Order: sequence, then C-alpha cells, then structure tokens
Amino acid sequence: MFPQTRLRRLRRTPVLRDLVAETAVSLDDLIYPIFVEEEEDHRSDLATMPGIARVPEQDLADEVRRVADAGVRSVVLFGVSHHKDAVGSETLRDDGLVARMITTAKRAAPELVVVADTCFCEYTDHGHCGVLKDGYVDNDTTIENLGRQAVIAAEAGADIIAPSAMMDGQVAAIRRALDAAGHTMMPIMSYSSKFSSDMYGPFRAAGGTSLEGDRSTYMMDYRNGREALRESALDEAEGADILMVKPALLYLDVVTRLRDASPLPICVYNVSGEYAMLKFAAQAGAIDEDKVLLEMLTAFKRAGAALIITYSALDFARLVDG
Ligand code: PBG
Ligand code: ZN
Repeated sequence: MFPQTRLRRLRRTPVLRDLVAETAVSLDDLIYPIFVEEEEDHRSDLATMPGIARVPEQDLADEVRRVADAGVRSVVLFGVSHHKDAVGSETLRDDGLVARMITTAKRAAPELVVVADTCFCEYTDHGHCGVLKDGYVDNDTTIENLGRQAVIAAEAGADIIAPSAMMDGQVAAIRRALDAAGHTMMPIMSYSSKFSSDMYGPFRAAGGTSLEGDRSTYMMDYRNGREALRESALDEAEGADILMVKPALLYLDVVTRLRDASPLPICVYNVSGEYAMLKFAAQAGAIDEDKVLLEMLTAFKRAGAALIITYSALDFARLVDG
C-alpha cells in the first residue's frame, strides 16, 4: 500500500527498467514467410503488403541467402502455383513446386529452419484447403492427402511440417504418414486454432488464391475461445509438437488461455492483414512503425508465444542490428 509501495521506483532509469523487464523479443523467435512464384522472371511487389514481394522461383536461392545473412533463422514457404487442379496434386509430386522450393531453400542456406506450410488452398483451382465432395471439403480424403504432402515435404528437406487446413484428425494422419516413411524425428507445428478471419485478405491476393465461398465449415468461428482450447488439446493428443494461434493480434486472449492449458510451445501467426494495418498506419504518419512493431512482437511474447511468424522479421532484423 502507498506510501510504502511505490511502483515507480523500478521505472526510474533505463537500466532499472531493463533489469526487471519480464519479456524480450529475439530474432531467434521469428519465422519469415516467403512467397515463391513458379514460371515467372519478375519479382512482383505486393500492393497491399508494402515491402513484401512474390519471389520468382529462379531467385529463391538468392532470396533465402539474403534473409539468412540478415540474421533471420527460419522461414515458411508459400508457393504461387500456375498448375492448380481440383486436388492440388502439384503438392503431391516429388518434382512439384512444394518439393522444389524446399530443396532450393535448404541448399541455399542449410542452417535455416525451413517450415513447410502443409495445405492445398494455394494449389487447388477452387481455393479450398482440401478435396471437394458435393461442394463440401471432404475431411477424411483430405487428411490422407495431407499425410502424403507431408512426406513429400520431409523428403525434400523440410525441418518442420505445419499443417494449416483445419481438418479433424490431420495431425494424427500426418504423424502416421511421416512415421511410416521413417521421418519419426520430423516436428509437427499445427495451426491448431486457425480462425475463419478476414485478416488473411492480403495473403490471398499475394498467393493468387481463387476462393469460392469461404472457409467457415473448417476454420474456427471467431466467437469461440473455449473451442480453441479443444482444438489445441486434440492436436496435442494427436502428437503435435508445437501449437499455433492464427491470427495473432485479435486472439491474444486465446494465446494466454492456451499458455495456461498446455505445456507445448505456442506459435502465433502475425498475419497479412495485421502487417498491412501496421504498414499503412505508419505510412499515413499515424504511428511510428519501428516502435509499434517492437510493442506488438513483445505483446505476443507477453501473452505466451514462443515463436512468431511475421512478415516484419526482416524489419525487426534491421532494428536490432541498429
Ligand atoms: C494457407 C495459409 C493462409 C495463411 C497462411 N497459410 C491463407 C489462408 O488461410 O487463407 C494466411 C496468412 C496470412 O494472412 O498472412 N493455408
Ligand atoms: Zn489452406
């Protein structure tokens, strides 16, 4: 009680504040997404994601070197496919875009952790995350296909498999497929609570996905927090090594509740719409981008995240490099 207790005592100087700080963000925590476009010579800047481009497949090795040399230690790869079909069969071939971009990235920077986003929406002509049966995404066929895609990614050299389709039983199916193929040590980072969110808009433009309808029959309803705990508990029981909450900013309550409910490392996905909000507000002069970025990333850590997927990873690298 005041006057014995004065919380301002520990805020008097920068060194005191640093001594008692509860949270820190490190470049070691960050994962940088890269969009890789096949059959293209030109890098195309993305109008709704300032600073981010689609990288032609032929330039991926250089891009990955640049990112690694900047001090970033992990990337997640997203293919921009010119060979879409009803199944997303491009992802199931050992010479398809998924396999090729992983191999190229690992060859260019073997020290980099390469995360394979394991889904179908960038490779299906209808834009859904799996196989359609009468207009509805068929769960049990899709999880078998996810298992096959995970094995393709593992054999191409991926370091982490990250299924993002929100199918029931997908983690178990992938674990089974990986183990049967001998990849018993391959970690699974599950997009365990991926919400049906309108914050993915810039990503869908970037990835050239052509979605008919929406994903509310498989992604989570954003009104539900307890259900996110159920999704996460199931994925943990199915063998997930890392859980994920996506998007990040609007879902930090879920992160904190999950932090209390599960001992697994938690990743947050600071999605494209959140990135756009930061960039455009800064461009308009409304906020200081560097300061808000640091505040945002710190908030993710304070909420309980260990890992952060963020388009701002290179910006943060420049920031800590002084
Ligand atoms: C694909 C995938 C998406 C994102 C990550 N993986 C797109 C989607 O679900 O529509 C979104 C990331 C972002 O908005 O930055 N399964
Ligand atoms: Zn998907």
